[in-house]
Amino acid sequence: MVAVAILAAGRGTRMKSTLPKVLHSLGGRSLVERVLDSCQCVAPKRWFAIVGYQGEQVKAALQSHPDVEFVEQQQQLGTGHAIVQLLPYLQGFDGDLLVLNGDLPLLRPETLKQLIDAHQSHQNAATILTANMPNPAGYGRVFCQGNNILKQIVEDRDCSAAQKQNHRVNAGVYCFRWADLEKVLPQLEANNDQKEYYLTDAVNYLEPVMVMDVEDYEEVLGINDRKQLATAYNILQARVKDKWMAAGVTLIDPDSITIDDTVELQPDTIIEPQTHLRGNTTIASGCRIGPGSLIENSQIGENTTLLYSVAINSVVAGGTRIGPYTHLRGQVQVGQSCRIGNFVELKNTTLGDRTNVAHLSYLGDATLGSKVNIGAGTITANYDGVSKHPTSIGDRTKTGSNSVLVAPVTLGTDVTVAAGSVVTEDVPDDCLVIARPRQVVKPGWRLNNSQ
Ligand code: UD1
Ligand code: CA
Repeated sequence: MVAVAILAAGRGTRMKSTLPKVLHSLGGRSLVERVLDSCQCVAPKRWFAIVGYQGEQVKAALQSHPDVEFVEQQQQLGTGHAIVQLLPYLQGFDGDLLVLNGDLPLLRPETLKQLIDAHQSHQNAATILTANMPNPAGYGRVFCQGNNILKQIVEDRDCSAAQKQNHRVNAGVYCFRWADLEKVLPQLEANNDQKEYYLTDAVNYLEPVMVMDVEDYEEVLGINDRKQLATAYNILQARVKDKWMAAGVTLIDPDSITIDDTVELQPDTIIEPQTHLRGNTTIASGCRIGPGSLIENSQIGENTTLLYSVAINSVVAGGTRIGPYTHLRGQVQVGQSCRIGNFVELKNTTLGDRTNVAHLSYLGDATLGSKVNIGAGTITANYDGVSKHPTSIGDRTKTGSNSVLVAPVTLGTDVTVAAGSVVTEDVPDDCLVIARPRQVVKPGWRLNNSQ
């Protein structure tokens, strides 16, 4: 039986931010959410988040995790003091407590599983995750008897010059037998450089305490400042891109591309340079995306091309050509084999199959049937200064260049709108509508007739 506690009460002074450190975003998700997600695999019986600095903000950010119990640490007197706050919550708890710093966003779930397995199979009082860091500055150093029986953890700032030569570091991930930890927590003292109660000192009173080295030290990089946040982002990006290239996706100039780890790609899709894929985005196979494009929370169907364009919260069926310079923003739905071209903006708009909006248009709150052709420069005037209104356009209807469709308005099927029309009233099926002044030509007329 495992309970999890995530330490998220600190301010994170080194971030130089008003936002609590654990709420800083790494690839679209906060540090603390990433830590929480990495623990799902151990199926904890209870979840705790220790909150303090801007605790209300941290709580709000974790609303999507209803299982989490929030524990207040009013003053941040150290990581040991943070865990002391759990005493009233875990009275009589007869299992293990997995403790994680809230600033470890790159942990792999398998590592946590291995830690708990090692802890339980050796019946340890505590098992501590450690790593050999090429640059251990800032981390607590781990000193062992033999290879893996822990003697002591000394914080970087409390280390002697000789102790600093040790590259084995404390990752900030611990598994404790709660019944043992509970007894020693009141014995912690703040006799160190920071005058804090260190959780790492608890190991001095417990036996046996074992360490487990993580193979890939990058997993346990702690985020304390913006530079480490950027390093973590690069590591995460490398992981994500390696995964998709191995799965059959071509990335042209991967260093110029960013892909959130929530994105799903299908094989034989090509992602071109300077393209950014974010959030809950999926891209089917046979697509060519970019260069210079941004897709966020959107679903792109097979064999779609999207060039120098932006798509946000949109769904595009297969075989559509988009761009250059198209902007799909919010609840756009595009049918099969459409064409959306240069300088076209669509908002809350649905296109049926084989519909074209090829040049210089704005369509907002519009529903278009299939095989519609929107002429260059056609605009829906969907906003009257107070409210937004819908436009509906039937199958096979064609609008001439520079038409304005003043909403609310409905055009039937097989309608032709003459170029330059301002359509203010509904048009039935199978009609030609000309809504513009007739051209007047006056033969022999000059500005000054006397000359
Ligand atoms: C800590 C460890 C160090 C380890 C490193 C790994 C201690 C004393 N040191 O150092 O051995 O190598 O992590 O990254 O634990 N927090 C609270 N309440 C507090 C203080 C901190 O909840 O009173 C939280 C912070 O929000 C953070 C986590 O605990 O998420 C770790 O605190 P931080 O200040 O980053 O510790 P480090 O100095 O990095
Ligand atoms: Ca840290």
